[in-house]
Amino acid sequence: MAGKKTAGPSPEQSREMIEFRDSGIHGMGGFARCEIKRGEKLIEYVGEKITKAEAALRIEADNRFIFTLDDETDVDGDVEWNPARFLNHSCEPNAVAEIIRGRIWVRALRRIRPGEEITYNYSYGFDGHEEHPCLCGSGKCVGYMVAEEFFPKVRRKRRKQAMAKA
Ligand SMILES: C[S@@+](CC[C@H](N)C(=O)[O-])C[C@H]1O[C@@H](n2cnc3c(N)ncnc32)[C@H](O)[C@@H]1O
Ligand SMILES: [Zn+2]
Repeated sequence: MAGKKTAGPSPEQSREMIEFRDSGIHGMGGFARCEIKRGEKLIEYVGEKITKAEAALRIEADNRFIFTLDDETDVDGDVEWNPARFLNHSCEPNAVAEIIRGRIWVRALRRIRPGEEITYNYSYGFDGHEEHPCLCGSGKCVGYMVAEEFFPKVRRKRRKQAMAKA
């Protein structure tokens, strides 16, 4: 609509802010090309909107790009027009993925310097966390890609396992 305020950067503007290349965390990652201000929207996570049932089938078939949109719908970001699919998880992220008016935006949590890898917490649940080991390398890494609310639970479990082995 003419004159309508854009909700965030266009795909072209996102490409100007983020370079996608090999990451030390895993596979490809996204890296800041310029200084990014705290709170700035960086990129939209786009893809195919699918039902929960369809998402479950695709996850079963090893799709790692499913993003929960709401109680009924997920987004399958495994499409070539979604470069945000390359952003990796970190236990100490510099960005966050937020749902704003039905769209998924990755936004800076703090100032990000050129060359820094842009990461967010994938916010996975506790159940089955052992299937998602984390290699983020941050000092706060809990060893698994889980939401921050589960960090204490994962740490307790790991302590117990270490004590049982000793
Ligand atoms: C949305 S993709 C991210 C892009 C991925 N680097 C790639 O090249 O396809 C999600 C997958 O990347 C991997 N990944 C992302 N962050 C990770 C991390 N902190 N530790 C280990 N693997 C990670 C996991 O295999 C995860 O299922
Ligand atoms: Zn980690």
